[in-house]
Amino acid sequence: MNARSARRGDLDAIARIYNEGIEGHVTFETEPRSAADVERWLEQPIVVVEDGGEVVGWARVSAYRPERPAYNGVGEFGVYVAGAHRGRGAGSLAMEALADECERRGYWKLLSRIFTENERSLALCRKLGFREVGVYRRHARLHGDWRDCVVVEKLIGEAAA
Ligand SMILES: CC(C)(COP(=O)(O)OP(=O)(O)OC[C@H]1O[C@@H](n2cnc3c(N)ncnc32)[C@H](O)[C@@H]1OP(=O)(O)O)[C@@H](O)C(=O)NCCC(=O)NCCS
Repeated sequence: MNARSARRGDLDAIARIYNEGIEGHVTFETEPRSAADVERWLEQPIVVVEDGGEVVGWARVSAYRPERPAYNGVGEFGVYVAGAHRGRGAGSLAMEALADECERRGYWKLLSRIFTENERSLALCRKLGFREVGVYRRHARLHGDWRDCVVVEKLIGEAAA
């Protein structure tokens, strides 16, 4: 497996893998996304993992509170691996490549919110040195049910020194 920056030709695979996550109820996103919907993701750090030339996972950051310039080195990350390829290191590889890319671009923190039931994602973050900041209780409803989220963060780049 190898990781690299995503490009336009990866958008179909990125959307397809994301839609598996939406169906798996691991995100507050509820509508399936198309390649056109996710094209703007290429404007910020986003990496894919390939296995034998096939895109099997990706990780990206989006801006955290973009209306406040002071936060411009904080990235909210998402990481998704195709169902058939989970548990084989693709998520770890994607997150490591994403953190490297973010460091190169001067980011100092990655953070996210993960459903408390999402053991795989929490295990991935623990393994990569993320700190669990706390739990947002009843952060929002997904398909009518209140969901709690663990807030995770990791300092990178100059902030980690
Ligand atoms: C979360 C996800 C990205 C992890 O990617 P992955 O490729 O499966 O993860 P990895 O194989 O790199 O495993 C990372 C760690 O997770 C843990 N892990 C792996 N499989 C697991 C399982 N079935 N149950 C619990 N923990 C597990 C292990 O600690 C592993 O570390 P190790 O390699 O030292 O054993 C992937 O499972 C996924 O796409 N899930 C659905 C989408 C999702 O939940 N995204 C996150 C939204 S916040």
